[in-house]
Amino acid sequence: MARAVKTKGSASVDGGGAGQDVAIRVVGLTKSFGPQTIFQDVSMDIPKGQVSIVLGPSGTGKSVFLKHLVGLLRPDRGEVWVDGKNIPALRDRALYDVRKKFGVLFQDGALFGSMSLYDNTAFPLREHTRKSEKEIREIVAEKLELVGLTGAERKFPGEISGGMRKRAGLARALVLEPEIILFDEPDSGLDPVRTAFLNELVIDLKEKLGATMIIVTHHIPSARQIADYIGLLFRRRLVSFGPAQDMFDSKDPVVKQFLAGATEGPIGMSEEKDRPGEQGGSGEDGA
Ligand SMILES: Nc1ncnc2c1ncn2[C@@H]1O[C@H](COP(=O)(O)OP(=O)(O)OP(=O)(O)O)[C@@H](O)[C@H]1O
Ligand SMILES: [Mg+2]
Repeated sequence: MARAVKTKGSASVDGGGAGQDVAIRVVGLTKSFGPQTIFQDVSMDIPKGQVSIVLGPSGTGKSVFLKHLVGLLRPDRGEVWVDGKNIPALRDRALYDVRKKFGVLFQDGALFGSMSLYDNTAFPLREHTRKSEKEIREIVAEKLELVGLTGAERKFPGEISGGMRKRAGLARALVLEPEIILFDEPDSGLDPVRTAFLNELVIDLKEKLGATMIIVTHHIPSARQIADYIGLLFRRRLVSFGPAQDMFDSKDPVVKQFLAGATEGPIGMSEEKDRPGEQGGSGEDGA
């Protein structure tokens, strides 16, 4: 079981031995907003049919990273390969097509405020399929039941709690039975019992759909429970990406501190502001 966790941006899925299929290959991904470098030279092979958890201090670019995977943001440099297609190089129709493979829950839920939960959940089906309204009704009812929102179909996002919005976003992300699921903090704002249900749902989706899941969370107990792989973004770098157990056993001070939630270590309180040097930062600077 002594599987290597590769570090310093050269992460790959070879830790578990040969033959692990790759769902998404990220190569040298680099992104700046103006003078602010968000991440630099991030490379990883995200394994197919597994749950990969992305961790990192607030403001390190986890949400920005997920948006690159579906082509909502374009990198300054680097590639994102899905099914032989390089997402940043795709335009219009080709991008639209490849996006059908993805189910995405954004951090803020991103529901349409002027649509009921029913219409929000039905939206991807109406947009991307030719299903009849009767078929759509069945699928929407099933997904809303899955997230515990039966009976709330007619409510609007403005009328429900944050946790309910989150769960509605979850239902919407699942209606197309996606091959690849991106969840950005699906558990934030959920109570402990619903978080436990969510974790069960994730394990279920993996087993039943064989879906590849990439989940951003700050909740380490969830990571421990559901992660097959864990990646840690810190100061513009992918510090580590590897099998979950290896990460929990890691001696790397950043990984250790983050997974332990300790105050002692290289990570400080104001991480998101600690971006000295910006362009060309080495990743080891600024402590
Ligand atoms: N569209 C944008 N334009 C300019 N800057 C942006 C944009 N989107 C994100 N940023 C900046 O990129 C950095 C990373 O943001 P991101 O939302 O990815 O952080 P995060 O790791 O998801 O944090 P959190 O854990 O708080 O959600 C932040 O400094 C943010 O202000
Ligand atoms: Mg975020």
